[in-house]
Parts: sequence; structure tokens; C-alpha cells
Amino acid sequence: MAEGQGTNRERDRKLMRVLAGEAVSPAPAWMMRQAGRYLPEYRATRAEAGSFLDLCYSPDFAVEVTLQPIRRFGFDAAILFSDILVVPHALGQDVRFVEGEGPRLDPMAGRAEFDRLKRADDPSVFGHLAPVFETVGRLRAELPAETTLLGFCGAPWTVASYMIGGRGTADLAPARALAEGDTALVDALIDRLVAVQTEYLIRQLRAGADAVQIFESHAGTLPRAMPRSGSPVEPVGDVTESALPDEAPEDALTRWSLRPIARMIAGIRAEVPDARIIVFARGSGLDGHARVVPETGADAVGVDWGVDLAALRARVPASTVTQGNLHPETLIAGGDALDAEVDAILRATVGKPHIFNLGHGITPQTPVAHVERMLARLRAGA
Ligand code: CP3
Repeated sequence: MAEGQGTNRERDRKLMRVLAGEAVSPAPAWMMRQAGRYLPEYRATRAEAGSFLDLCYSPDFAVEVTLQPIRRFGFDAAILFSDILVVPHALGQDVRFVEGEGPRLDPMAGRAEFDRLKRADDPSVFGHLAPVFETVGRLRAELPAETTLLGFCGAPWTVASYMIGGRGTADLAPARALAEGDTALVDALIDRLVAVQTEYLIRQLRAGADAVQIFESHAGTLPRAMPRSGSPVEPVGDVTESALPDEAPEDALTRWSLRPIARMIAGIRAEVPDARIIVFARGSGLDGHARVVPETGADAVGVDWGVDLAALRARVPASTVTQGNLHPETLIAGGDALDAEVDAILRATVGKPHIFNLGHGITPQTPVAHVERMLARLRAGA
């Protein structure tokens, strides 16, 4: 068995024990975007590496920036340094990161662009991603034994929304418009992404990742509801499928988020039966978060800052593993407000399997001292 596989990892690594259902106190902690611009050492390596994509595809630099927050803060998990958009890049779409503006892709407006994408079984796709697997292997060898190594990818809808719209959050309307128009094309794109991302995560796990997180960062941009025939309908309010099993419209969260993620997870487990998987479904609301584990088969639900963690914990079985959800703006604020929110998260999760994290990525303006304060409060207040 490869290093990092087997039962030892679950005994030694706190975060893996929580993913197996154990309540561990103090909760293991990591932060989304923990390797990033709020760290001076990241900014220095980033300047040396050249472009952001050069950083992602250079194992030397990617290993270095992944380790930086582990050295500084002793987080319980390291997350592979890369980006969700290396996958569309590997499929042949042009991807650029514009300084100060974020990612830009050549938008996929219709069939013609879709037909030019590579297929998941094209060997050049995983040839393009080979540096990522090398980074994972080197990280597992270099990390302390007690540190969990997380791999990741974007969920199909989130990646599709970038591929269709060509850019980030302000411009997701094109994805929704296409989803409400040419639903068959969106289904085809989602299918392509399910196939490629399933294989991508299997390869990360085989290269040495202990667990993986699937980022559905744009769950909140899905159209509200879709009928089974595929053309748009009005939102259905509180009517649930269980209340109206046959006539109820299929909601878009099911069709384009939860079900594709469930297919990925089943595909991963067919190859790596003990794979541990976290799903972060940002913007899916209390209901959406409550549905993640039962409907996808994930081991844990990553909770965004907009969800009341105590309310979610009250809704889901006590055995459900949660992760989150400190507001990144509270971390910027620091002080008593920060202490109070750490305490509230601890109160909501006492005796329950929980991984401490933010409710979305840390932002560049966050003071490093506030991260230290957050961890001190967590580690003392357990
Ligand atoms: O430390 C980690 O969390 C691991 C590395 C990581 C990055 N991106 C590095 C990155 C991870 C897990 C991601 C995931 C990612 N990328 C998501 C899902 C998580 C989320 O935030 O919702 C999304 C939507 C992307 C796409 C993306 N990449 C955007 C929108 C941006 C620009 C936003 C920004 O902060 O500038 C990026 C760039 C990016 N990815 C940076 C980092 C550290 C900043 C780029 C830089 O250093 O110049």
C-alpha cells in the first residue's frame, strides 16, 4: 500500500479520525485558501514563480506554498496548492489569471466550443495534469505524519459556470441562461466534467492525498427549478419532491449539483473504496447543506458562512460530519467578535464530529495575527 494509505492514517491524523465519524476535541482545523496572499511568504514565492498558473504547474513552488501555512500555524490539514480551473485548461480551454481581476476563460457559448473540448479518456488531459500528481506525492513525503493532505477539484456545476461564462462571480448569468435554454448542452458538459474530475480525484488519492474536497462554490447560482422535461419553470417554493413524488419539478440543485457529485463519489469509491470526501456546497442554504451527505454519499459537508451552524447541526443526524464556518470578515475584524464566533462554533458542535474552518476562503487583507488568535482560542477553548 502506498504511503498515506491504510488504517494508520486514521489513527494518527486527527482530521481523518473526524472524517471517520469521531468527535475530536479540540476540533482539527484548516482554512480554505490557507496558502494565499495574506501570507508574506506566499507573496514572495508567487513573485518568484511568475504567473499564477506557473505556480500551480511547478511542483517545486506548489509544494513550497502548500507547506507555508503548515509551518507557520501547524494546521491539521494541508491542501494541495492548485486551482479548480486547471481542469478546463487540461480539456483545452484557454485559461488566464488577470492580475487583480481573477480568472478569465474563452467563454463556451454553444455546441461548437463544446465539441472542441478534449474527452476525459484523451491521454493528453492527464499528461497536462501530471505536475499536480507529482506535487501531491512530494507533499505526502514532506508533510509531518500527523498532517492530513487534502486534494481537491471543483464540482461540475461550478467549473461549468466558469467554462460557460468565462469568468467569476459577477458574470454567472451566462451559465444560468444556457442552463435554462440548451439544457442538453449543459447536461453534456456536466457529464464530461463528472468523468474527468472523477479520474482526477482518483489519481490525487493514488498519488498520496488522504482525502479530497469537492468545491461547489457556485451552488447558489443554479436556476431555482427545472421540470423533468428540461424547460424552465417558476420556482416551487417549499414544495418538496417527497411531498409530490411524481409531478414535482426536479430542482436544479439535484440535477446539476448533488446528483453529478454523487456520480463522482460513486466512481471514486469504485476505485478507492476507503476514499474520504468532503463536499462544500456554498450558497445552497440550510436545506441544501442538509441534503449534501445523504444525497451525495460524501463523508462530510463543508458549511458556508451564511448557514447557521447550530440550526444545521439540529437538522442533521448527530453522526454527520460538518466543517466550517467562520465568516472570513470576522477573521478580518479580529478581537472580541472573532473570539465570540469561534466560541459559537464550538458550542454548536460540542461532542459532534466537526472540522474547524472558515465559511469561505481567507481574503488577502486578513492580518496574520488574527489567524493566530483564532487558533489559540480554538485550541484553548475546547
Ligand atoms: O490554499 C488553498 O485553498 C489551495 C489552493 C486553492 C486556490 N484556489 C488557490 C488560488 C484552491 C482550493 C482554490 C479553489 C478555487 N479556485 C475555487 C473554489 C473555492 C472558492 O474560493 O470558492 C474557485 C472558485 C477558484 C477560481 C479562482 N481562482 C478565483 C475566482 C480566483 C481569483 C480570486 C482571487 O482571490 O484572486 C482564483 C485565483 C487563486 N486561486 C488564488 C489562489 C491563492 C489567488 C491568485 C494569486 O495568487 O494571484
